[in-house]
Amino acid sequence: MGLRRVLLLLLSCVLQPHVHCQVTPGEDQKDHPAGPGHHHWGYTDVLDWDKEFPECGGRAQSPINVITLDAAFDPHLRPIQLSGYNLTSAETLKLENNKHTVVLKLPDTMKIVGGLPQIYQAAQLHFHWGSAGAPGSEHTVNGRRFPGEIHVVHYNSEYRSMDRAVTQQGGLAVLAAFIEEGAEDNEAYEHLLTHLEEVTDGGQSAEIPGFDIRGLLPQQMDRFFRYNGSLTTPPCLQTVNWTIFNQTVLLSAKQLAILEDTIHHDHDHILQMNFRDPQPLHGRVVLSSFRAPVGGRKAAGPAPPPSVSTPESDDPSSHSETGSHGQDDPQLGTGDMLAIIFGILFAVTAVAFFVYVRKNRRRTQRSSDSKSNVIYKAATAEENMA
Ligand SMILES: *[C@@H]1O[C@H](CO)[C@@H](O)[C@H](O)[C@H]1NC(C)=O
Ligand SMILES: *[C@@H]1O[C@H](CO)[C@@H](O)[C@H](O)[C@H]1NC(C)=O
Ligand SMILES: [Zn+2]
Repeated sequence: MGLRRVLLLLLSCVLQPHVHCQVTPGEDQKDHPAGPGHHHWGYTDVLDWDKEFPECGGRAQSPINVITLDAAFDPHLRPIQLSGYNLTSAETLKLENNKHTVVLKLPDTMKIVGGLPQIYQAAQLHFHWGSAGAPGSEHTVNGRRFPGEIHVVHYNSEYRSMDRAVTQQGGLAVLAAFIEEGAEDNEAYEHLLTHLEEVTDGGQSAEIPGFDIRGLLPQQMDRFFRYNGSLTTPPCLQTVNWTIFNQTVLLSAKQLAILEDTIHHDHDHILQMNFRDPQPLHGRVVLSSFRAPVGGRKAAGPAPPPSVSTPESDDPSSHSETGSHGQDDPQLGTGDMLAIIFGILFAVTAVAFFVYVRKNRRRTQRSSDSKSNVIYKAATAEENMA
């Protein structure tokens, strides 16, 4: 048994956030009878994860609850741009039930080429879900949990492989979108959901034809939240640059039911509610790429000049990706209007005060009263500030 095996196991854990930590029972029992060091985890023992995986108890864990009014608008966040996502049916992809989720392996020719500080290559995508009538997303927004969530996992192209990147700061980038119920069947999801039956049991896998993976994500890629967090499953490494899209993905009720009711972890045990609860922020800041409606906006840095909201135009590729460029250029919100009105009021008050002080100064020059001197001193301070 020993160290080598444990290291190998850890390596495979690390290789794919969800596929890891899974050993064929026979092999495993040979080396490790059940017990500590077994590296089995599940959603019924989330509070024990940090016993075997200390980083699960860290201070930059995922998922989180996004409080939109606390999100800091950052005008420098650019729309996510994807490349190579449009796979054809000539390619085959491995779909796998790893007993924690259903994973679709992705070729590293699929990339995030814009919207992050580096280029990231795709590794896999997977889902989190609930059960009929019980939502199962991992992230929540203003305390609201959504029916499901898709995670597309990428690794920094500066590193040779997923397993090297996963331990490095900024090593991973996950694109997350919420799944909600809509009126119609989602064609893109149909490519995947029709094959779920082939991987019903834990450990099963199937080869499925490629399709346009872009269709699994929302149309709008310029509106998102961004924060630094972790893998949401053991080993919970805190190396993930998270992008949570503000636009959601819609599945029909029938499709949602297939996602919720098909995957089993073993024998007769259906796999549902495979999400981790929101973790404390511990002072982390959540950025948003868009201005929140009226009132709750906080600036992440110096406010941009008004013209800054249009320069996407010098970035031609962002047009094709987002499709809706120009429609959501931020307008002057009530907050901005209030700021301007208060600015003017302040200026008027300052001028009035200045005039008052000038009058007083003349009076002071006539009568040398110490009380007026105080007013005069205050006025000079005021003048210096302006
Ligand atoms: C994430 O961490 C990196 C490295 O510390 C930092 O530069 C970046 O600003 C952080 N991003 C957010 C959204 O806090
Ligand atoms: C999208 O952003 C708006 C405005 O902040 C917010 O009210 C809404 O809850 C957000 N939805 C998601 C899914 O992020
Ligand atoms: Zn996930």
